[in-house]
Amino acid sequence: MRTLHWALALAASMALTPAAVAAESEQADGVQGDPEAGKELVMQGKPDNPQVLACKTCHGKDGKGNAMANFPRLAGQDPAYQVKQLKNFAAGERENYPQMNNIAGGMSEQEMHDVAAYYARKDVSVVGGSDASQDVLAKGERIAKVGVSESNVPACTSCHGPKGKGVPPVFPQIGGQHAGYIEKQLNDWKGGNRANDPAQMMTEIAPKLSDDQIAAAAAYFSNAESGGSD
Ligand code: HEC
Ligand code: HEC
Repeated sequence: MRTLHWALALAASMALTPAAVAAESEQADGVQGDPEAGKELVMQGKPDNPQVLACKTCHGKDGKGNAMANFPRLAGQDPAYQVKQLKNFAAGERENYPQMNNIAGGMSEQEMHDVAAYYARKDVSVVGGSDASQDVLAKGERIAKVGVSESNVPACTSCHGPKGKGVPPVFPQIGGQHAGYIEKQLNDWKGGNRANDPAQMMTEIAPKLSDDQIAAAAAYFSNAESGGSD
């Protein structure tokens, strides 16, 4: 768990802009992404390979995703995390959406870095939004910040950072993500449909959460403004 400790220490000292985080993370991964080349893929896909659809069709040109369709928001997401997911999809290590296995399977490593660099630079202040009641949001906030002691669930923010803003490169931003997408991921881990998490961190946590707790945590994070300073 050396990475975890390192990442938590980094989180404590984090007051970085998205572009600074993006630049740092790209360097850490050793391959430099080109956001301009990434933009071409986002807008057009690969005309010579119809398997690689234009990302904007689902994730939007600004990476806002789509709440109704559970298309995740990618805006402001750490580029190394995005690249990891694309590699996992390409290798069949993440299989909870076959369309993404096809798309990532047709991309080179450089293209993965290019698209990730593009989306990582998009505005993180976009908020997923949830119309859950105050009660549900309060319950979600408690799970996020304190965890659930009866069932040994750690505070989500101990890994995902305050307001779920993420701790690159291991812990993704979940603040401002669409509630339905967050819920789907937790249920996928719970049901064994997603298993690409390092050290089985989410595989251990998700089954300890009830449906109501999952919905509450998802509502809280989707409303959390992850672009703020705190
Ligand atoms: C047909 C719709 C569609 C298209 C086109 C599409 N995606 Fe996706 N993508 C999805 C969905 C849906 C998921 C989430 C799957 C799940 O876990 O339920 C996803 C997941 C991802 C993730 C992981 C996000 C996370 O938070 O873990 C990345 C990164 C990603 N897509 C990048 C891309 C890139 C880059 C392109 C273009 C080359 C692209 N996608 C095109 C629908 C799409
Ligand atoms: C021990 C550290 C840890 C804790 C605590 C933790 N997570 Fe995670 N979480 C992770 C890691 C690591 C990943 C990235 C998995 C991967 O690489 O595919 C992740 C991924 C996720 C994702 C998927 C994000 C995406 O874009 O696809 C969601 C949603 C999530 N966590 C929600 C939660 C919630 C809600 C809680 C609290 C109940 C929580 N996590 C607690 C480590 C943690």
